Amino acid sequence: MQPRSLVADMTPYEPGKPIEEVQREFGLTEVFKLASNENPLGPSPKALEAIRLALPDLHRYPDGSATLLRHDLAAFHKLAPGQILVGNGSDEILQLVALAYLEAGDRTLTARCTFSEYDFCSRLLNAPCDTVPLKQWTYDLDAMFHAIKSSTKVIFISNPNNPTGTYVSHDDLKRFLAQVPQHILVVLDEAYAEFVRASDYPRSLQLLQQHPNLLVLRTFSKIYGLAGLRVGYGMGHEELIRILHKVRQPFNVNSLAQIAARAALQDQEHVSRTRRCISDQMPLLDNGLRQVGCQTVPSQANFIFASTPVAGRFVFQQLLRHGVIIRPMDGFGEPKAIRVTISSLIELGRLLGLLPAIFGKS
Ligand SMILES: Cc1ncc(COP(=O)(O)O)c(C=O)c1O
Repeated sequence: MQPRSLVADMTPYEPGKPIEEVQREFGLTEVFKLASNENPLGPSPKALEAIRLALPDLHRYPDGSATLLRHDLAAFHKLAPGQILVGNGSDEILQLVALAYLEAGDRTLTARCTFSEYDFCSRLLNAPCDTVPLKQWTYDLDAMFHAIKSSTKVIFISNPNNPTGTYVSHDDLKRFLAQVPQHILVVLDEAYAEFVRASDYPRSLQLLQQHPNLLVLRTFSKIYGLAGLRVGYGMGHEELIRILHKVRQPFNVNSLAQIAARAALQDQEHVSRTRRCISDQMPLLDNGLRQVGCQTVPSQANFIFASTPVAGRFVFQQLLRHGVIIRPMDGFGEPKAIRVTISSLIELGRLLGLLPAIFGKS
């Protein structure tokens, strides 16, 4: 059997290494994962309780339109329910964008060192993804504007950027959107928005009114701590959302995910606690990385990107043996860099205790 030729050439997505695999491989009982930007405090207790109460109804199909969750999100963001699409993670929404908007011969555009799913979902539809280098580890919107081709159909912006944690400001984004032709869809992926402290971070929902070609993505996987359930959502003009609904599976978001997301959204105390935990621990990780000779990039997200004097994969492998999983950045085109998720004091303490020996500073 022969797969489509472009599928034959693809390499599968490399996720953060699972804890169970490292436990088995190295015979360890305690393994800390600082590789996938998950919430160190876990899910909201209110979400867990909501799931427990919903278990007896698992024989029912979920609400295919995620009606209640969409209404809650609409109220939360002061939008109309018709402006919201819920997906099986924001990953799914990226694929829906590709399915709905890309044909062979179209092109997409993003940054060179960014979330790999933009390139993946484009190539899946036979639409090459053009990339523009980051400028000081940040999306260079001017260069991206100049890289637009007549065949460019979708632009992906990760803000803050995974993996560097940098952001583009409200004014810069607004200027960019004013320049981009209206027939190009701009996907603004704000997976880490709730962690941002910068006061000039885009108020992106205010821009939806003037820009029917803007789709803003958020997720319950990061600050809401529900990565295992897979819930993300997109916000945009009703016509854009209506088109995306056409290409999704009828029951794309499972019932426990919908119920847990509703409860998590109400638990803004858990969100605040998580935000505080991340901002409290960030200086500890930043200083620890600098002390062993790494150059860190100021982050607005729940992870830190650092240039390393040695290969990032070497650091990754050394830490792995001691039960700490981080992310080497070679897959992102940066072989001498790592990305570390900001976690609890105990987990970061373990990491920081191991670094001096790995970097020859002990
Ligand atoms: C920038 C960015 N967008 C989207 C996602 C995917 O999120 P989800 O779990 O909602 O599919 C991630 C996950 O790491 C991410 O970093």
